[in-house]
Amino acid sequence: MVERTFVMIKPDAFGRRLCGEIIRRYEAKGLKLVGMKLQIVSRDLAEKHYAEHAGKGFYESLLEFIMSGPTVQMVWEGQNAVAVGRKLNGATNSQEADLGTIRGDFGMTVQNNLVHASDSVETAKREIEIYFDESELWDYSMPDGHWLVN
Ligand code: RTP
Ligand code: MG
Repeated sequence: MVERTFVMIKPDAFGRRLCGEIIRRYEAKGLKLVGMKLQIVSRDLAEKHYAEHAGKGFYESLLEFIMSGPTVQMVWEGQNAVAVGRKLNGATNSQEADLGTIRGDFGMTVQNNLVHASDSVETAKREIEIYFDESELWDYSMPDGHWLVN
């Protein structure tokens, strides 16, 4: 199934100059970038994005963190893009994430775990709508596309 997933480079990764490294991994894996923007997230957007965590102990801290600096929003497309994105990122707790994943290779904490990716196709749809207009998502084919689907 060709899917879209929403991926966000968090302020810690941005501040540690890891944007290129993260984008490189998604690109090299074989996913296709169909939307991208840079912004310091407003409280309104942060609350919408992390609505599922409202009321949890780490919620306020998470909002402060996510609003604390520039972030990069992306939509990546490909076969099973949601599951592939979660694999590329690794486990939520960076110290437990496998080496070879973004969090496993570069992260040291649970909160400051560098990168977000949608956890289901439905979540991806909701998150993409929070950050992107339909007109900001691009429909095109890559010359190597046939190598990257079954
Ligand atoms: P994400 O949504 O960012 O891709 O991460 P995830 O699915 O692996 O983790 P999730 O449970 O959705 O948590 C969202 C983000 O909240 C921060 N967090 N802090 N202090 C804590 O116990 C705690 N737990 C989660 C992390 O930044 C996590 O990515
Ligand atoms: Mg999550």
